Amino acid sequence: MRYERVKNFVAEWTLSVALAVFIAGCPGDACPADKLVGDAERGAGLFASGDGMNANGGCQNCHCPDASGGCQFDAPNIQGEECQHLDERTRNPIVSHPGGKFDFSDQDVADIEAFLADWAK
Ligand code: HEC
Repeated sequence: MRYERVKNFVAEWTLSVALAVFIAGCPGDACPADKLVGDAERGAGLFASGDGMNANGGCQNCHCPDASGGCQFDAPNIQGEECQHLDERTRNPIVSHPGGKFDFSDQDVADIEAFLADWAK
């Protein structure tokens, strides 16, 4: 049954590497804004302000004032969007986001999240 043992070893090794890569890829604190209490009213201001292109807000130009999407560039509905996703699109883009990269603080992200959560109710 040597073959079985080699096979198990390879399977376990592959799993360990996959796990290590996964853990390394997750910074201990995935979304700092999650620790803060968001202010939906302030979030509404950020969502509305700016010209929308690399400005500190202006999401509504594309995502529409109620975040339901479709106002420009086929921007999707982002009602109820959560911290991690907001970060990945606005502050630390992991995909190119037509809205660009935004210079938000953790509090800004928490506030926008609170604003979007209100629309998801
Ligand atoms: C110039 C237009 C534009 C602006 C301004 C804009 N977005 Fe977007 N956004 C898009 C488009 C188009 C997509 C879909 C493509 C993509 O996922 O990158 C998108 C995707 C997203 C997504 C991912 C949604 C999903 O379901 O995957 C989030 C979250 C998001 N935007 C948040 C924001 C926030 C918050 C702002 C304002 C700070 C903003 N966007 C400003 C056009 C825009």
